[in-house]
Amino acid sequence: MKIGILTREAKNYSSRRLIEACERRGHEAAVFDTLKFNMLVEHGKPSLTYENAPMPHVDAIIPRIGASITFYGLAVVRQLEQMGVYTLNTSHAIGVSRDKLRASQTFSRHNIGIPPTAFVRDRAGVIPAIEAVGGTPVIIKLLEGTQGIGVILADTAKIAEAIIETLQSTKQNVLIQKFVAESKGKDIRALVIGDRVIAAMRRKATGDEFRSNVHRGGTTELVKLNEEYERTAIHAAQIMGLTVAGVDMLEGKEGPLVMEVNSSPGLEGIEGATGIDIAGQIIESIEEHVQFPEFDLRQRLTLATGYGVAELPIRPGSPMAGKTIGELDLRDRDVLVLSIQRGSVMIPNPGGSERLLAGDKALCYGKRIVLRDLVPRKGQAEAAKKS
Ligand SMILES: Nc1ncnc2c1ncn2[C@@H]1O[C@H](COP(=O)(O)OP(=O)(O)O)[C@@H](O)[C@H]1O
Ligand SMILES: [Mg+2]
Repeated sequence: MKIGILTREAKNYSSRRLIEACERRGHEAAVFDTLKFNMLVEHGKPSLTYENAPMPHVDAIIPRIGASITFYGLAVVRQLEQMGVYTLNTSHAIGVSRDKLRASQTFSRHNIGIPPTAFVRDRAGVIPAIEAVGGTPVIIKLLEGTQGIGVILADTAKIAEAIIETLQSTKQNVLIQKFVAESKGKDIRALVIGDRVIAAMRRKATGDEFRSNVHRGGTTELVKLNEEYERTAIHAAQIMGLTVAGVDMLEGKEGPLVMEVNSSPGLEGIEGATGIDIAGQIIESIEEHVQFPEFDLRQRLTLATGYGVAELPIRPGSPMAGKTIGELDLRDRDVLVLSIQRGSVMIPNPGGSERLLAGDKALCYGKRIVLRDLVPRKGQAEAAKKS
């Protein structure tokens, strides 16, 4: 196979290790500087040029898109997706995970712990937001910072207000987040590939620094994650839609709190701390997936007029609760149950004998009018409750 690595830093540790791993596993590696692509968006034949010549064929790409070139980098990855090239992480997933607000918003509706976080636009909102997340000291964070740059600890509301005002005056968007003091300058970085945590380390900030990033002088040690941390890391990566992810978690009083999910995690700190060949496992994952280029499932599934995908909540008292998929005749009604989410457990491709329980969420594909009839509409459900 020929594997392309998209990076602006061909010589750094992660790039070197990925090239090595490609070659060791019998593939050819080609490094591309993301900013040297130009793209032509044309009906039926999307294409890219590299250094003004047609881009050489690659079977897969590993996008390593730095925060400073997110917009252009994602456009390049998206173009490769349109050309049918397998990309290790999709442009969509990279985009969602990169924006800390967007990622936290997505997590907030799932069973994943996050530090309480507020987002405000003007000065008047700052004090109430600080109170809402639990008072000072408070963390102020740029939406798209990396390596600890853009994460500030403010001791008082006055200082917080001044910092936020200054940043907003330069058109920077910032988050206000609860300072999770009990994690004491430490955090956990879990490296997820697919549905497994491949390696994990604990990072410790040095001196009076509270940021534990390796780029801020943080030290690392190997850590064995318990089941809760492992599950949270995998779930967070999957919700972001990332095949490879570095999940950062604080050790909160009540368990893991996900701060962010990195789509191009650095390999140096974590390979050093754990001695695990992560680069090799990344290439192995590409070998497994390359015959399946990425596409947008929802977009494809709804191409048939009148059909759609929907997540059906099985509420207590719903006529579906307690019945098997077979008993509900869903197949004959042209509805396919793709998966059932039961708490943190996922049941893929459930058979006819699988029973739906109250609290489940069933992901279904089928005729929209049938799907609509299966869930009581908002107004109806409330009216029924009142009567
Ligand atoms: N809410 C918080 N409470 C305590 N420490 C935090 C909090 N948010 C971030 N930190 C510390 O700052 C570091 C950087 O924060 P993070 O959100 O991961 O930004 P970056 O993208 O710059 O790495 C974390 O690794 C952690 O040590
Ligand atoms: Mg981080």
